[in-house]
Amino acid sequence: MYSLLKPLLFAFPPEAVHDHVLGLLELVSRQKILLEVTRRFCSVANPRLEVSCMGLQFPNPIGLAAGLDKNALALPIWAALGFGFVEIGSVTAHAQNGNPQPRLFRLPEDNALINRMGFNNHGAKVIAARLELWQHTHGQPTAPLGINLGKSKITPLENASQDYLSSLKRLYDYGDYFVLNVSSPNTPNLRQLQDRAPLEQLLKIIMDFTKQQAVQKPIALKIAPDLTWEQIDEILEIALSHRISALIATNTTIARDGLRSSSQETGGLSGQPLKARSLEVLRYLVKQQDLPIISVGGIASPEDAQQRLEAGAALVQLYSGFIFEGPLLPNRIAKGLLA
Ligand SMILES: Cc1cc2nc3c(=O)[nH]c(=O)nc-3n(C[C@H](O)[C@H](O)[C@H](O)COP(=O)(O)O)c2cc1C
Repeated sequence: MYSLLKPLLFAFPPEAVHDHVLGLLELVSRQKILLEVTRRFCSVANPRLEVSCMGLQFPNPIGLAAGLDKNALALPIWAALGFGFVEIGSVTAHAQNGNPQPRLFRLPEDNALINRMGFNNHGAKVIAARLELWQHTHGQPTAPLGINLGKSKITPLENASQDYLSSLKRLYDYGDYFVLNVSSPNTPNLRQLQDRAPLEQLLKIIMDFTKQQAVQKPIALKIAPDLTWEQIDEILEIALSHRISALIATNTTIARDGLRSSSQETGGLSGQPLKARSLEVLRYLVKQQDLPIISVGGIASPEDAQQRLEAGAALVQLYSGFIFEGPLLPNRIAKGLLA
């Protein structure tokens, strides 16, 4: 089916298609019957797929990566499509429009995307209200919900910790785990938060807050694929000393190695060309320590997911694979993992 639909979808600008498809998924999410039909057709429930990670129970290890449903517009559909967990965001403390369009590009010959969205999102306050509403109408989600936090563009880098904290406070009641995204290439200087001093400061403020809460929810850190091994070692040491619950590896890359496409667009590259580096980073992280790793980058088939899990990933996530392979991909991966 999707191979017939894809040429039509790919004939239109990527962000317009994204917005329309998300709008459609939002409509389905609001109709309990359609949601149930989708669930029956797509989701695969099997105890052999269940995973325990960060103190949470996941129905399967296949997650929707951050960025696709930034504003939680279609939240219930993702579990119905077969995802075992969903990460919304990146959410920032202040609502923001992101970078000027066009800012999302397909590279079909590479099965890749380049984006420089710049954290376009409705802001923590509106998204918290939307999550409250989803809880009210649909009850607790069947798959764990991750909330990925980014820094507002208007907040200077030296005040970043307070910006993340403000979002965390607003959203704390609604997420099962939270992600500190310090690795997007599309917010100026954001990736400097991966350096020792700012990272120490950020983690201290965030972990101090969670320790004071009645329920201590897991905090994960999302890292870039473009770090050196020395930088990764330093991040690991800091993450372990602050008792971070997991690392998400990786975000999009600023590298352009081996592309068939001649695209000169700036931004983060995702999909197939990121696959080898993401796997390499996963293997390195697993070798160094025991922290759970959520592996993301270039996963587009059951074999890709299996390879990550065999390499030691606790969970996997995907974004670009969903665009190139279609909405049945989580279902195919789940069936593949059971085969
Ligand atoms: C259009 C687009 C927007 C994204 N936005 C975010 C974001 O807001 N926060 C984030 O942590 N990652 C974001 N990502 C990165 C993905 O979550 C993921 O780490 C990356 O795309 C690699 O996975 P993939 O190869 O399966 O796409 C975005 C990716 C794309 C393609």
